[in-house]
Amino acid sequence: MTEATKKHQYTLIILKPDALVKSLSGNILTRLLEARLRLIGAKVVKVSRELAEVHYAHLKDEPFFDDLYEYFSGKTYGPKYERVLVFVSEGVDAISKVRRIAGATNPLDADPITIRGAYGRINKKGIMENVIHCSDSEESAKKEIHLWFDPDEIIGELYPTKKVIKENYEVIEWA
Ligand code: PPS
Repeated sequence: MTEATKKHQYTLIILKPDALVKSLSGNILTRLLEARLRLIGAKVVKVSRELAEVHYAHLKDEPFFDDLYEYFSGKTYGPKYERVLVFVSEGVDAISKVRRIAGATNPLDADPITIRGAYGRINKKGIMENVIHCSDSEESAKKEIHLWFDPDEIIGELYPTKKVIKENYEVIEWA
């Protein structure tokens, strides 16, 4: 890739419950940060069925979606692991960089030096437990960042925002 074709990009990264079960979060973050990708958003999320259905909208009618949700929500591993770590990262060619570090979607096809190649597996139900999700294009990064984050949870102004005044709604505050 020439200097001229390099592009500053944003991407969404999800460390799935198997990453947490296997204590891989630190290792994965080290790999990402060593590739000069900066984190500009980070949170822990308990994944509802609704959220999973929007995130994997193209798969929600597949016969394996129930099993995919069991895995993605962490229900497979019990209540302690019903969560994912979600990040927005930025950097030069961030999308392809993260995908190179993650490896092929199917852990059986992934290079063993990649995250999915080293730590992923196919489970008994045929679901790819592939440790990490990362956006595959600028269009999906934009869609996924909008889905998982509010604008004020991210450092920087990535996409257009608007101010809305809301009344009569309940929020929980520290007591
Ligand atoms: S596809 O086939 O082009 O729709 O694939 P893709 O867009 O990459 O999305 C597939 C995501 O679903 C996860 N997954 C599976 N897909 C198909 N078959 C099986 N058995 C399966 N198990 C898991 C797969 O890991 C992709 O999710 P991400 O989060 O991108 O890895």
